[in-house]
Parts: sequence; C-alpha cells; structure tokens
Amino acid sequence: MSWKNIAKQSERMKKTNIRELFENNPQRPTQFSSQAVDLFFDFSKHIIDDESLKALQAFAKERELCEGISKMFSGQKINVTENRSVLHTALRKPKSESLIVDGQDVVADVHAVLARMRDFSVALRNGSITGANGQVIKHVVNIGIGGSDLGPVMAFEALKHYVTKDLDFHFVSNVDGADIHEVLIKIDPASTLFIVASKTFTTSETMTNANTAKTWLADNLGTSFDPNNHFVALSTNAKLVSKFGITEDRTFGFWDWVGGRFSLESAIGLSTMIAIGPEAFDEMLSGFHSMDEYFAKTDIENNVVVTMALLTIWYRNFFDAQSHAVLPYENYLKRFPAYLQQLLMESNGKSVTVDGEKVEYQTSPIYWGEPGTNGQHSFHQMLHQGTALVPVDFLFGAKPVTEIGNHHTLLLANVLAQSSVLAFGKTAEEIAAEGTKPELVEHKVMPGNRPSTVIIYPKLTASVLGQLVALYEHITLVQGILWNVGSFDQWGVELGKVVAGSITPALENGDTTSLDPATASLVTKIRNY
Ligand code: F6P
Repeated sequence: MSWKNIAKQSERMKKTNIRELFENNPQRPTQFSSQAVDLFFDFSKHIIDDESLKALQAFAKERELCEGISKMFSGQKINVTENRSVLHTALRKPKSESLIVDGQDVVADVHAVLARMRDFSVALRNGSITGANGQVIKHVVNIGIGGSDLGPVMAFEALKHYVTKDLDFHFVSNVDGADIHEVLIKIDPASTLFIVASKTFTTSETMTNANTAKTWLADNLGTSFDPNNHFVALSTNAKLVSKFGITEDRTFGFWDWVGGRFSLESAIGLSTMIAIGPEAFDEMLSGFHSMDEYFAKTDIENNVVVTMALLTIWYRNFFDAQSHAVLPYENYLKRFPAYLQQLLMESNGKSVTVDGEKVEYQTSPIYWGEPGTNGQHSFHQMLHQGTALVPVDFLFGAKPVTEIGNHHTLLLANVLAQSSVLAFGKTAEEIAAEGTKPELVEHKVMPGNRPSTVIIYPKLTASVLGQLVALYEHITLVQGILWNVGSFDQWGVELGKVVAGSITPALENGDTTSLDPATASLVTKIRNY
C-alpha cells in the first residue's frame, strides 16, 4: 500500500526538480535540516517534499520500523540465519548500565574486556611491555581482514592527528604476500607486536599472514622467540588462539553477537586504543553511544538515520539509482568509504528476504567514494554530466583538525560548490547568455537535479568519528528492515572461500579434475608460465 503511494509520489516528483522546489519554497534549508548529537544534516537538496517524505515515513511505519529497532537494542536474535543477537550497541554502553541477554549482563562483560585493553594499551604506550630480549615495542602490526581490518585502518587514518608518535602502526590484510612483505622490510622483529585480529581465527588470509609473521619472528629471533612476547589475539575463538601459541592473558575476547563489520569498538579496536590512547577511545565510545541514544529515542519523522535510509529506498527503488557516493571532504576520512562498503554492502547486498523469499525489488546500491577535492579532478565529471543518478553524501568538519593557511576555507568552498552545482546545475540559456559559442552550449549544460546530503560536524574528533560510524551502522539496520533482508549474515562470501580451498591444491599439484572447465584451463595456463 505505502510502496504504491511512494511510487505515485515519485512520479509526481519526477515532474519537478530541485531548482523549482527551491523557487517554490525558499525555506527548504531550514525545513529539511536537522541536528543529531554533533552532526548537522542538510537534506534540502533532495528531490523530495513534505508529501513524498511523509509517504516514505508511512512505509517505515508499515514495516514496523520502531519494533525492529527495539528488537536489535534489546538483544533479540535478529540475525536469524545464524540465530544470534546483534548487539554492537552494547559495546558502547556506559559501565553504569546493564543489559541482560540469555541471563548474562553483556555490558559487564564488555567493560571487563575494555579494562584489560586499557591496561595493555597503557603498558604498551609507556614502554613497559617488551619483546624478545626485553626490547621496548616500537611497531604494532594489525593482521586482519574485512571487519577485522577495515575498522582499525579507517579509525587509525581518521584519528591520525591524535595518534602517539612513539609507536609505528602497520596494517596487513591481503593474502597477497606483497602486503606483509612491505611491512616486514620496515620493522625490527625484537621490537614488534603483531595483533592477530580475527573473530573466527579461521580466516585464510589472516591465518596465512599470522603464520608468515610467526615464521619471520622465529627465523630472526632464534631461541629467544616466544610467540607470547610478540603476539596478541583479538578473537571469539579461544581454542584456536591457544593452539596458535597465544596465552589467555594475551587474548582479548568478544562475542558472537558482534558482527565483523560492527566490531570496531570491541576488542578488534585494540590497535585504535593503543594508537590514540584509552581516553580518546572512551570518547569514541561515548560518541557511538550518543548516536545510539539519539537513534533509539527519536521518532521516525525527525530521525536523521531513518531519513537517510528512506532516501536510499527512494532513489534506489524509485529513481533507479544504482550507486551511492560517500565523499568526505576530510582527508583523514580517506578510508571511510571503503569501511562503509563492507558495512552497507555486506549487510544489505542480498536478494532474498529474511524468510528466504526472492525479493522483487532492488536492495543495496553500490557504495563508493574518495575524499574531496581529489574526486573533483577524477570522477565528478560523471556525477555532474553522466547519465546515471548518483546520490551523494558530503561530509566535512566546520573546523579543520589542523589549521594551515586558508586550506580549510578552500576545502569548504569546494564542497559547498559541488553540492550546489549538482543540485542547481546551469541551463543552456544561462550558458548561452555568457556568450558561449553555440556549438559548445550543449556540452557545457549542467543538468543539475542531482541530490546530495550535506553532513557537517564541528571538527573531526574521536567522538565525532564514533557518531559517524554509528550513524551508518544504524542506516544499515534501517535499510535492512525496510527491504526485509537479513542484514547481519553474509552467506554470499562463503562459496568463494570453499572454492579457493579446492583450487589451492590444483595450483600446487596440477590435478584439475575437481574444477570447473574454465578454472581448470586457467590453472593449467598459470602452471605453464
Ligand atoms: O569473509 C567475510 C568475513 O566473514 C567478514 O564478515 C569479516 O569481517 C571478515 O570475513 C573477517 O573475519 P574474521 O574476523 O573472522 O577473520
């Protein structure tokens, strides 16, 4: 019912455009803007008006969105195919709170691990944790992939300004040996700590890299090598961690209710805590928590998380937008789009409903992005004049983290210009009136009517980063509820792992009999090089 109404609204809105919407209602910037904790949202440059937004909100209510949100927060097993709760919000609850799930206070468990992480981080930062021969640790290498890498790398880059200069940080994820090689040639074995970050402790890439690190340490340190001096593990799989040779006091655990792509603020954040220090990590957690509180307590009509998710539905399902760009005008957020790709696409890139029925509509768009202004000299041409409609999120700080000359003013001028030009464009008449040669006019026309959300934060701090991540985590949840897909499993990544497992021996021994003909032929080709 609501879906049909949205379709009707979209047909109506396709007959107008953003310019016209502003001409008819100059109050749009105040009417379509909102504040959530420290983040300001301007939705005025969307192809939306009151009536169409109301139709979208009615759909959210029809999908029982509020109930869906409460189910997550209260620990119901909304990850149905894995029979798990989804409780990343419990990772950032203050110590004074509690949440009982299956008879267990999960908040107390979270804070017990956080306390151990704090002690360890402080000791490492002040040099009292040493490697072989008592050498102070100088290099910290996080080995992980997916959520066990993207969150830590993204947060490290985002908060680089706040990172201690006494330690060097490195991140290894790819099974391509080049990744670990480039790190190993820069570090010194006796003063290196490897953090093996893996929820399952079975992921092939991570375990291959961890074993390579172990061999490298053993080769270089000889008899003085003890894995416990140079490794810590972040994992839910204590048994495999111990088998690897890492003892309990060097293991920081978490729980099956923390999804890999939602794990940045669990033990998986240890490298972040070491880098920025426990106090800043706590600030990040309170940033997350404040956004959780906002999201859980704000009604559908005023909730920016819900609005952002509804806008995805609007453009994806009714305007055929195939992709969505996230463009931070904040160089420190350069890995944020990559982080969001896993968060949003691994969660909602699904084609069956929670009950396993084939969906009859499009689900996750392709998320992509790069920091501005770099993108302006690369793909923005397509955003402005290409044939595809690509909704954009622009993110930036009102104040820079580091003030240098007039750089920030120029950055701000550019981001505001991009959002404005996308929305309002420039007509053939306006271009001709400037005296442009007639044969060039059509080439210069800027169609406009290209929607964007502008998100402004005061300045990029640990708390703001927590808010931004929580914002997109909750957008992920809301999208999943609206599309009725299970956002918290990722069955689509499994088959590739299994097939790679059967191709590995074929590459080694040439026996291709179990492979499909195309792969068998490629294996033979490769072996003949
Ligand atoms: O293969 C996908 C995935 O399972 C992600 O969901 C996860 O973040 C990543 O692999 C790493 O998993 P783990 O932390 O268990 O090594």
